Amino acid sequence: MLPIEIRDVTLNYDTPGGKVQGVKDVSFTIAPSEFVCIVGPSGCGKSTLLNIIAGFLKPASGEIRIDGKPVTGQGMDRGVVFQDFAQLFPWRTALGNVSFGLEMKGVPKEEREKIAREQLRLVKLEKFTASYPHHLSGGMQQRVAIARALAYNPAVLLMDEPFAALDALTRDDMQRLLADVWRETRKTVIYVTHNVAEAVYLADRVIVMSPHPGTVKLEVKIPLERPRDPLSAEFVEWQKKLLHHLGHEAGGDDMQTNG
Ligand SMILES: Nc1ncnc2c1ncn2[C@@H]1O[C@H](COP(=O)(O)OP(=O)(O)O)[C@@H](O)[C@H]1O
Ligand SMILES: [Mg+2]
Repeated sequence: MLPIEIRDVTLNYDTPGGKVQGVKDVSFTIAPSEFVCIVGPSGCGKSTLLNIIAGFLKPASGEIRIDGKPVTGQGMDRGVVFQDFAQLFPWRTALGNVSFGLEMKGVPKEEREKIAREQLRLVKLEKFTASYPHHLSGGMQQRVAIARALAYNPAVLLMDEPFAALDALTRDDMQRLLADVWRETRKTVIYVTHNVAEAVYLADRVIVMSPHPGTVKLEVKIPLERPRDPLSAEFVEWQKKLLHHLGHEAGGDDMQTNG
């Protein structure tokens, strides 16, 4: 498992209307096997930052290092999961989707199917290996996406609001499942959300971003023991603390709780 350093990362978008600030001078580090949530109001630069870490976008200045090595593009050391259900290949079964990266890597059929089955078991989809995405619910499709991101055994899992489009009950189930997957795999996870309860449930540490310019406002350690109980008094207390930190600059309106 590898430490991640994010140093003075700045990115602006050039648009017909002029320069739009994506993120500005973002710096923080992530320890191996740590679960870090990035929270902040819509438009503050969370996705921009995640895409820079994934290597999809190149920062104007600053750098990302994983285990000391600068990120220069996409890599098999990072698995990415997005919000969008359409991230799966519709013409491939669940097993076909999960084994895709391994196929690209030249892993022989028998071995890649064995690995893909194991990953689908981890996300509790062992009975759906032969199903196509359009026969699966939104939550199941996101579980396939997680299994696919884990299949080539990346050190880091990057997740951009993966459960935001799901209904509240499914989202709760998915958060529990992800906490289990993390406990079992001990991946380093960087998880973007604008849902405060989700961050308190999942994170070791929360990076709070402020809008305009998108920069790190503060970091909050969540010392609660796992498994966490969203109904406990201390959980609600941490949720309030985070909302308070966000509220000053976000106006509070844009942030969600699970309630
Ligand atoms: N492709 C793009 N072109 C121009 N501006 C963009 C683009 N993507 C994001 N932005 C702008 O950059 C800022 C940060 O966006 P984003 O990273 O998507 O925020 P978040 O994920 O926190 O909602 C916003 O002002 C957004 O409008
Ligand atoms: Mg976003």
